[in-house]
Amino acid sequence: MILLDETEIRSYLQDFPIDLEIMILKSTPSTNDYFKNHTKKPFLQFCFTEHQTQGRGRFGRSWIAPFGVNIMFSCRFVIEQNSNHLAGLSLCTGLAVLTALEEFGIEGISCKWPNDILYHQQKLAGILIEIQAQRQDQTEVIIGIGLNVNMDKAMLREINRPVTSLQVITGIPQNRNKIAALLIQNLCTYLERFRHKGFTDFQEEWNKRDALTGKTIALKSGNDLITGIAAGVDAFGNLLLQFESGEIKAYCAGEVTLSAYSLHDTHLAKNF
Ligand code: BTN
Repeated sequence: MILLDETEIRSYLQDFPIDLEIMILKSTPSTNDYFKNHTKKPFLQFCFTEHQTQGRGRFGRSWIAPFGVNIMFSCRFVIEQNSNHLAGLSLCTGLAVLTALEEFGIEGISCKWPNDILYHQQKLAGILIEIQAQRQDQTEVIIGIGLNVNMDKAMLREINRPVTSLQVITGIPQNRNKIAALLIQNLCTYLERFRHKGFTDFQEEWNKRDALTGKTIALKSGNDLITGIAAGVDAFGNLLLQFESGEIKAYCAGEVTLSAYSLHDTHLAKNF
């Protein structure tokens, strides 16, 4: 097993212009929580770990992985914007991960709103973003990313959901240090673009990479279950759903599940 190594990661980042901190821990409860109790710096900070004892996913789920097998990290920074302007940041992060994977040579990747990375409808990576307003016009952002790299089929079976890993996709174990560098590089580029232009600049790119468009989906939002046909996202990163009447509505939060039927099968939403 080759462990994550800062020197090796930095060797792939040569001539990279941005100051950044890269920490690598053997084990920690959660890399997102790490930043809550450690020194905060005025530039991008990355914390990777080989193992998490209390790794967290979205919707209160846990995020579990064996030691030294996947990539789990968080990126912390402060953005000079009101937290209301950060809609779309999670979609932008998803696009950065997708681009890093494509640069690594993986094809067939798409994004599932708001920020799952899929390989042919199987989850390859997840993103957990936590933001905290510091002032009216300043927000602290912690982006946590978990990417399944060298999990084998037996490990994946334990997750009990449709998931995959780079090792299963390519048939061989992959170099996590090289992938970590590509993730850092693309996150820096995408976050800088988001800082200057907001999500509007990514809307078209997202809609090209959207795993849901044209599919009948169910959106669980609070106690509501809304069924409609996914129609991409708007300029703020809201999910657009089209209903039988032709009406299109935008949704800013919720968990999406795919209906057993897609637009190719029927234009009508079926029962769930
Ligand atoms: C999801 O899809 O549910 C989000 C998963 C996010 C997992 C990552 S692993 C690194 C960081 N630390 C955590 O505790 N969670 C995120």
